[in-house]
Amino acid sequence: MRLSLRFLIPLAIALGLIAYVVAPLVDQLTLRWFVRDVDIRAKLIATAVQEPLVELLGQKGRDEARVLRVEAFFNRILQDERLFAIGFCDNHRALVYRTPTLPQNAVCPPAGVEPEKTGRILVEPSGTLHVAASPLEVDGQRLGELLIVHDMSFIQRRSADTRTYLIYLFAAIGAVVALITVVIAEISWRGWVAGIKALIRGQAMALAPETRARELQPIARDLAALVRDLEAERRTRDESQVSWGPESLRAILHEDLKGEEILIVSNREPYIHVRASGGIQVQRPASGLVTALEPVMRACSGTWIAHGSGNADRDVVDSSDRIQVPPESPAYRLRRVWLSKAEEEGYYYGFANEGLWPLCHIAHTRPVFRATDWEQYRTVNRRFADAVVQESRTSNPIVLVQDYHFALLPRMIREKLPGATIITFWHIPWPNPEAFGLCPWRGELLEGLLGSSILGFHTQFHCNNFLDTVGRYLEARVDRETSSISLGGEATEVHRYPISIEWPPAMLAGLPDVAQCGADLRRELGVPLETKVGIGVDRLDYTKGILERFAAIERLLELEPHWVGHFTFVQVAAPSRSSIEEYQSLDARVRAAAQRINNRFGSPGCPPITLRIEHHDARRVYALYRGADVCFVSSLHDGMNLVAKEYVAARDDERGVLILSQFAGASRELMEALIVNPYDTEQCAAALRLALSMNPAEQRDRMRSMRSLVQEFNVYRWAGRMLLDASRMRHRRRLAGARRGVRVIGLRGSAER
Ligand code: G6P
Repeated sequence: MRLSLRFLIPLAIALGLIAYVVAPLVDQLTLRWFVRDVDIRAKLIATAVQEPLVELLGQKGRDEARVLRVEAFFNRILQDERLFAIGFCDNHRALVYRTPTLPQNAVCPPAGVEPEKTGRILVEPSGTLHVAASPLEVDGQRLGELLIVHDMSFIQRRSADTRTYLIYLFAAIGAVVALITVVIAEISWRGWVAGIKALIRGQAMALAPETRARELQPIARDLAALVRDLEAERRTRDESQVSWGPESLRAILHEDLKGEEILIVSNREPYIHVRASGGIQVQRPASGLVTALEPVMRACSGTWIAHGSGNADRDVVDSSDRIQVPPESPAYRLRRVWLSKAEEEGYYYGFANEGLWPLCHIAHTRPVFRATDWEQYRTVNRRFADAVVQESRTSNPIVLVQDYHFALLPRMIREKLPGATIITFWHIPWPNPEAFGLCPWRGELLEGLLGSSILGFHTQFHCNNFLDTVGRYLEARVDRETSSISLGGEATEVHRYPISIEWPPAMLAGLPDVAQCGADLRRELGVPLETKVGIGVDRLDYTKGILERFAAIERLLELEPHWVGHFTFVQVAAPSRSSIEEYQSLDARVRAAAQRINNRFGSPGCPPITLRIEHHDARRVYALYRGADVCFVSSLHDGMNLVAKEYVAARDDERGVLILSQFAGASRELMEALIVNPYDTEQCAAALRLALSMNPAEQRDRMRSMRSLVQEFNVYRWAGRMLLDASRMRHRRRLAGARRGVRVIGLRGSAER
């Protein structure tokens, strides 16, 4: 349609000009030419007939006979098709001879007036005529004037023909010019469109250098500005999207990431198959990482790659080591990676949990670094990189690498899939440069992590520690303004993404109300209904401050003995990493401490501490949260600690008090908790006392505020913000036409790469 308009409008204008301007001009011009020609012709005829006419006029005889002879002579001359009439005026200006066709108003020129040099034009009903008067002289004596009348209608015919030809000619020229214009416009339009498309797809390098440099650069700048606006809008949406849920995450995947493939890599798998007396059972591990990522994966589908650690794991996978999970309603794929005993020893127990774990946590447990463990760590990271390549259906997947088990993995993936967007999330604290510097392979670890497009930590403090560490140990450019690091020309963004839990928690569905949970718990403990109950839920780990928590309980009972027999603390401790000596020792010390305190303050039927060192499933834990008056999280150092958030989420009655260590990342968000220093036993005992006596109104105010925060900043938001940042980077990369992969450590930010 637009094309035909582009063609027709110039054509119509050209024809209009021809009809109303050019044709009348041409008419006037040709008429002038023809009149001049006819003048010359009339003179020629007058000259030619002069001699015979003089002879005829001079013949003797009757006048009538002479008239007849002259008029017969005139009629013979009129055989010429263009001659219309002839007349002869004598010296008295009387028309003495004439052909019958001579018009009445073709009169003789008045006496004394010289004949005009050019003929007159007469417009008669019979047509347009040209009348020329030529003097007839013999030997210098004037006999009269010969009137020669030409029929000019042939001029009109020629003029009409000429106009028609002109219109055709100009129409043809107009058509050709319009066609050429359209073709040229179309070709250049296509060139531009191709250039812009290439620019958007990141293929600018494929364009001719001239085009790229001169014509597309302003467009590229405008496009880049447009993309920045869109990104700003997207970021605004991130902040303003109050209700984050599985749907918003799915929308990001489909709209912003165009359904791109998501792969998650973690050491711990979300479902563990174990042999039990009744057959194969499925266990959910006690892992904050798994708790957070599982709902994300359910929303995103995709593939989760993890170590197959259950003794029945191999029995349930297909020939490619895959299984659809969750077992009750499959939503995504779990790909299991098998490790030998030696690999698990060296990589998991050794380097990850005896080396990196104590290195990153300030809990005063000395890290152990063995070269053999390091070798296994490298081998296993490579094994997982191979699995990522195998599972990836495209060359540029989004890979979410999880935690300190895989510090080398981002670079290994980058080497195999340069187009991948790698988001690495470090779930545990990042120490200061001095502490990290203890690791003999600190450089390799940092370089491995800087294979990421984005590197994420829970807190800004840990991001800053990481930037400082890289600045200290690598020849890299650290840009604090944009929170990004460039190493070997490749950039990694480092951002804070505080992890959270799903909202509303699926585990709450179907649980009894809070009063019922409270009554059930007290019945189970064998204590009276009015007994105050505290709860602690942890892996049995020295970073969790379980002994410090027990010390606070003991101190409370010392200071306020009336709580003896009226307060009991249930400590759920999931056995963890139990083949490591430090954990075995902790197990023994925790049991001994509980025993000692119970012996000291025991009252019949109500021990101060009920210790349950066993695995509890998540629903059971939520029931405990709902039944307890106080939850005590006393981590000595913790990236986030999701138990604190789970307790808040479980209390839809807006009751209960959370005591929270200032050294857990969660204390940066849950400010209405009673924040304590777990090393300060007096302070912790005071917090316990305050919690046990807090009035319901204050409990409600604090709990309501914390609940709205966890609701708003839930795990879908955590993942959504990372994915939005990943999508932003992919857009930018496409625009920049970069050939290499985009990498991030941490999320959020806008550093140019
Ligand atoms: C921490 C780590 C996780 C780990 C979890 C349980 O939360 O950050 O990566 O999965 O502890 O530890 P485990 O060694 O049993 O996986």
